[in-house]
Amino acid sequence: MKKIRIGVIGNGIIGEQHLRNYAQIPEAEVVALCDINEARMNEMGDKYGVERRTTNIGQLLRMDDIDAVDVCLHNNLHAPVTIESLRLGKHTYCEKPMAGSFADAQAMYDAMNETGKKLHIQLGTLYSKETKAAKRFIDNGDLGHIYHMRSTGFRRRNRPFVDGYATKEFVNTTTSGGGALFDMGVYHIAQLLYLTGIPKLERVTGHTYAEIAMDEGRRAESGYNVEELGIGLAAYENGLSMDFIESWAIHGAPFPGSSIYGSEAGLTLNPLTFHSRQHDMELDTKVDLNQMDYLEHTVYASTAHYDSSQHHWIHALLGDCELIPTAKIALETSRVQEGIKLSQQLKREILADEIPELSVSRSLEIPNLKP
Ligand SMILES: NC(=O)c1ccc[n+]([C@@H]2O[C@H](COP(=O)([O-])OP(=O)(O)OC[C@H]3O[C@@H](n4cnc5c(N)ncnc54)[C@H](O)[C@@H]3O)[C@@H](O)[C@H]2O)c1
Repeated sequence: MKKIRIGVIGNGIIGEQHLRNYAQIPEAEVVALCDINEARMNEMGDKYGVERRTTNIGQLLRMDDIDAVDVCLHNNLHAPVTIESLRLGKHTYCEKPMAGSFADAQAMYDAMNETGKKLHIQLGTLYSKETKAAKRFIDNGDLGHIYHMRSTGFRRRNRPFVDGYATKEFVNTTTSGGGALFDMGVYHIAQLLYLTGIPKLERVTGHTYAEIAMDEGRRAESGYNVEELGIGLAAYENGLSMDFIESWAIHGAPFPGSSIYGSEAGLTLNPLTFHSRQHDMELDTKVDLNQMDYLEHTVYASTAHYDSSQHHWIHALLGDCELIPTAKIALETSRVQEGIKLSQQLKREILADEIPELSVSRSLEIPNLKP
């Protein structure tokens, strides 16, 4: 069996999750690890049986027997490492969000096109049963003219680090680029853009907030300066609009799941419900997702190539399926996220064409990128 040989850069929380996932994929083999935290890298290497280890990213990127590189670093390190990896001839998988700014995401996308290497961004919601079922309704035209989407993400109180989970790099713009809207919004916005065929943005307006009290010690230690709540409204081509609300922390009740509205029918994505009208009566139809999933894995077995972001990546590299254009979806997600941020800064609506002009790189200098 052909195996894809992988080097994982960044062996923190998500790096370990990736190692665990690759261990479940027979066609994947992690052959090298890289982290500046040598103790953490050695712990992961011992736990997952990876012998080759280096604290130097440039060294890993130059290993000739690696087919693909997996970037599990903080957001503002994604672009420099991914671009170097693509230029050194490696297919590259990168964690979400694509980058801490639109300018950096665009540079990654350009490097993918220049090099002809594959670039895949982790957008886990694209592989959920809900997304797969929703896609069937939409691709079949059941919704009619789709005119509005609502992207929602709710956490009552779960800002990274200051509320407990994860590291301080999530909550300052130097390493992360942004807060709730960037970190979790990416999953919900990308899901809707994927389902509606990656529509073209026309304009966007929005607001971001950081209002709620937090542990002062952790605030100071992390340099917390990102949004805990992002809201916005965007206009896309063909009369399509999207509104957003993404919370890491809010004094309020859970928001209903994301939704898509069409002239003939609508969808709520979580729990998946198909809203329609029949014989002049309103129907709210539940879908048996487990039955759908069972059939997909038995009768239509090739759908296993879409079990998760990593399954999909490995099978796309093996040539078993076409890679979903996650780099394009993530780039367009970044475009509208940056638009909301710019709208907050400039206190006005932002036209799509202004975003590439106004966006600035947030990429960090990485001393260990050179061998
Ligand atoms: N933690 C999660 O639940 C989660 C979930 C999905 C996506 N992500 C994404 O994964 C990325 C990383 O998040 P994380 O939670 O794993 O962070 P983390 O802090 O746990 O891990 C980051 C690792 O990168 C290493 N590192 C930093 N600079 C380096 C350098 N120059 N060279 C080599 N290694 C370096 C650190 O030592 C650390 O081990 C982020 O983009 C985040 O958005 C995280």
